Amino acid sequence: MLASGFRCVVAAICVALGLLALQAGADPRDVAQIKSRQDKFRDMGGALKAINDELKKGRIDWDNTVVSSAQTIKNRSDYLLNWFPRGSGPESGIKTYALPAIWQNNNDFETLGKLAQVEAAKLNQVALSKEVNALKAQVEAMGKACKACHDSYRSPDFSKDNDN
Ligand code: HEC
Repeated sequence: MLASGFRCVVAAICVALGLLALQAGADPRDVAQIKSRQDKFRDMGGALKAINDELKKGRIDWDNTVVSSAQTIKNRSDYLLNWFPRGSGPESGIKTYALPAIWQNNNDFETLGKLAQVEAAKLNQVALSKEVNALKAQVEAMGKACKACHDSYRSPDFSKDNDN
């Protein structure tokens, strides 16, 4: 009687302990999966920014920056739809910005992923063509394809937590 009284005195503390236990007990495969996809997305974000920076500079370094960055975006995009196995959402107990809607509206999510793949393949072609106006247009189209998915399937908390 006394012991059970001690076990859970304040509901809020009990909830907090429960969440800690959940995090500690998270499946290591989910931890690896989520961390790895976040790393790869960061690579893609960095690569897209690098191309944008070249466009802003005016004198574009195609060989050292644009071609390799476009390749990174294309390579990553090709596999993007494999990074979201069921169970790797917030229910895993691991910090992720992936929204449950990914698995609820999976056809729509996959459609957006495939559209991004098409834009990434075009971006790669344009980078190889070294044509400035085409690059400008395709960087914009790529950015829209990334954003279309983020608007529906990435938590808005990402922008809050990352200040952008
Ligand atoms: C089909 C959907 C989809 C597409 C397309 C997509 N993303 Fe994302 N992106 C996500 C989701 C979902 C997350 C959250 C992942 C997580 O937190 O587990 C994310 C996270 C990110 C992050 C944050 C990674 C971190 O945690 O630091 C960046 C940066 C990013 N994406 C960039 C891009 C760029 C650049 C493109 C296009 C070239 C792109 N994404 C295309 C769904 C998408």
